[in-house]
Amino acid sequence: MISIVTYWAILVPVFILTRMVYRRYASPLRSIPGPFLASCSRLWKVRSTVQENTHWDHLELHRKYGPVVRIAPNEVSFSSPQVARNLLSAGKRFYKTDFYSVFPPPENPDIFTEIREEVHAMKKKVANVPYSMAAMRQLSPFIDDTIEFLVSRMDGFCTDPTTVSKEDFYNWKKPQPILDLGNWLHYFAFDVLGEVAFGRSFGFLAAGLDKEDAIRTIDNSQKYNGIIGQVPEFDRFLRRNPLCKFVPSLDPGNNLITRIAKEEMAKRRPFEVEREGKGAGGDGREDLMASLIKGHLKDPQKFHEGDIFAVAHGAITKTNKLLTQLRGLRLNSLDNAILLLARTDRATRLLAPEIRNRRRRGRRHDPGHWEHRMAAGAESPYFQACLKEAMRLRPAVGLNITRYAPSPDGVEIDGRHYPAGTRLAVNGWVLHRDTEVFGQDAEFFRPERWLEDEENARVMERYMFQFGGGAHVCIGRNLALLEINKVCPRLLRDFDFQLVNPTCELKAKATFFVVQEGLEVYISRRGATA
Ligand code: HEM
Repeated sequence: MISIVTYWAILVPVFILTRMVYRRYASPLRSIPGPFLASCSRLWKVRSTVQENTHWDHLELHRKYGPVVRIAPNEVSFSSPQVARNLLSAGKRFYKTDFYSVFPPPENPDIFTEIREEVHAMKKKVANVPYSMAAMRQLSPFIDDTIEFLVSRMDGFCTDPTTVSKEDFYNWKKPQPILDLGNWLHYFAFDVLGEVAFGRSFGFLAAGLDKEDAIRTIDNSQKYNGIIGQVPEFDRFLRRNPLCKFVPSLDPGNNLITRIAKEEMAKRRPFEVEREGKGAGGDGREDLMASLIKGHLKDPQKFHEGDIFAVAHGAITKTNKLLTQLRGLRLNSLDNAILLLARTDRATRLLAPEIRNRRRRGRRHDPGHWEHRMAAGAESPYFQACLKEAMRLRPAVGLNITRYAPSPDGVEIDGRHYPAGTRLAVNGWVLHRDTEVFGQDAEFFRPERWLEDEENARVMERYMFQFGGGAHVCIGRNLALLEINKVCPRLLRDFDFQLVNPTCELKAKATFFVVQEGLEVYISRRGATA
């Protein structure tokens, strides 16, 4: 007679194995190539995300298996930018998957995490107002002030021009202070978001550190979201487990940023004050929260009070993408590193006289001022080309963007039918290296590709997915581009940069975003060294 333990010891593996075999061979996706483990379990995806290597893993997969790869029992990944464009288009009914349901707050989703399309459309309509280019222009001076502060803080890391000659600076002959540019850009991006969302900086630049580990907490949370998003049913046993509330470090309410968001909500009651346009800060500016409160007052049934907090708070956690992109401007090869363009001939074009002299011409607060024209490529086209090339080769999101095949009929893609509910995935790191669209040298950082042929540049632009696409296109892209277009030229204009470890690659980990570490530099004021 077999004991109960032996009975289970046999039954469980038999059940798991049978299920794996069934998933592998009984699926309509069975003939699609891919790793064996992926065809019978989601473990392949979980492993890739735990190893923080999804971006490279997907590139490898498509190189090995071709344009369509089975990456989970019910999920396929496509490498074609044309397929991605169709998948992400508005109105085609490719809806977001339950991957997004693990991102907090689950009880009140923000625009990013809301997977009910009609509710998402309502929320996005309200939130589009404060993220519009017009709104960004109004907030522009506050970004400028934060840049001034960043520059003044960076001055503290400058080599003293009286003690170091230019030759010594470039040959690292004298000990110089090391600046972790990645970290400082992190502080900058978060402080700007504080200004934009709540009318006040979070104080990271002033402190010169990650206050209360707030940024690290967000990073860790993204890592959790990335991994558990592959197996969302486990979320209820982990973060959604009510017991987590009793562990202070796991309670998101304790985070500095969450606390500030809550404080600001409380400060602005009664909400009628915002309707009168006075603003909590008293300086008359309409920050994101003020604008969302107005949206709520206009239609409280459609845009609930909880949405104000969720959308404003959600905006902060998206800042990591901006930072990732700011950091991503330093690319693999040193020749290609935008920061080092400051020392190359190409920098002469990059730092065009219009940019270097903009303050002298007193156009800083003009309505149509330089950075808007610059973002449109009207000024410093070479810088724009570098920026596009950085976003092409190193898109901030390293995980797949996945959508369900529409109900009830599914969809046909390139002659193959995918039943409703099949997960269809695309990854920017793969899409942006398509040689048909971006050229045979798509692997390489070559900004000139954007400047050679206008028509070709338009086609490439159409197949760039660094900001997603369709109804779910990134709402913060105006802000992100504005910040990048302001801060990068300014830093390149004012400072010379020298990598501390010129031969080392930056560490890049894909959680949801690809976060780079180790951008350590020596800096000096441009033209200040003897
Ligand atoms: C360079 C910086 C940024 C990049 C590359 C970026 C990229 C993206 C991408 C790829 C998506 C689509 C994700 C998906 O479909 O799953 C997205 C969506 C989103 N992003 Fe960004 N983002 C950036 C900055 C920001 C900033 C600064 C904010 C907020 C302040 C923001 C807020 C959002 C929101 C709310 C969504 C969801 C939009 C929707 O589903 O309708 N992003 N972003």
